[in-house]
Amino acid sequence: MDCIEAIVGRRSIRRYTEEPVSEEQIETLLRAAMAAPSAFNERSSRFVVVTDAEVLSALSETHQFSKMIARAPLAIVVCGDRDAERYPGFYWTQDCTAALTNLLTAAQALGLGACWVGVQPWPDRVKHVRGSLGLPLTVEPLALVSLGHPAEVKPPADRYDPSFVHRDRWSDAATSIAGTTESPGNADWE
Ligand SMILES: Cc1cc2nc3c(=O)[nH]c(=O)nc-3n(C[C@H](O)[C@H](O)[C@H](O)COP(=O)(O)O)c2cc1C
Repeated sequence: MDCIEAIVGRRSIRRYTEEPVSEEQIETLLRAAMAAPSAFNERSSRFVVVTDAEVLSALSETHQFSKMIARAPLAIVVCGDRDAERYPGFYWTQDCTAALTNLLTAAQALGLGACWVGVQPWPDRVKHVRGSLGLPLTVEPLALVSLGHPAEVKPPADRYDPSFVHRDRWSDAATSIAGTTESPGNADWE
């Protein structure tokens, strides 16, 4: 499947057949996730691959919109390792989000169905996932991804909206003031 086709064709799939996701497909998903960019190339994303029915059931209880995980053959929990961060607290969520988005695109390209299930920034959800997986305190769960062979079909959602796009400046009246906030120096970037 063409990459753009996979990106624009992706939808949240919440119903799955009983067919397991193969180990080869799981590795492909993880390879795609780990290929994502990360700040300073710090690679702070970590992944918990869950196929155990008991653990899937526990994760499905995270909140009211995570119930589909109990009927999924696979969930991948995307976590940030705070010990891997160059600047504590700065970029682990963005590193993980980039990885998660790659994972969703790869699932679509493989013909799998997937759904992002939010965990951050809710303390009760974080606590539940932490307890279900035995995560150390330095590892933060960003989100769950439920996965499987799709048992529902959704058409692509064409969300292109030219009114969301601004050119050069937000409006004719807008002015840009550079350098008013502190940020790591450009020399640090790889
Ligand atoms: C940060 C985030 C959190 C989400 N959390 C959930 C969730 O907890 N449960 C769920 O069923 N879908 C969740 N979704 C999926 C969205 O509902 C879905 O992407 C959106 O409705 C657009 O539909 P589509 O993915 O089919 O294009 C989440 C998506 C994002 C980006």
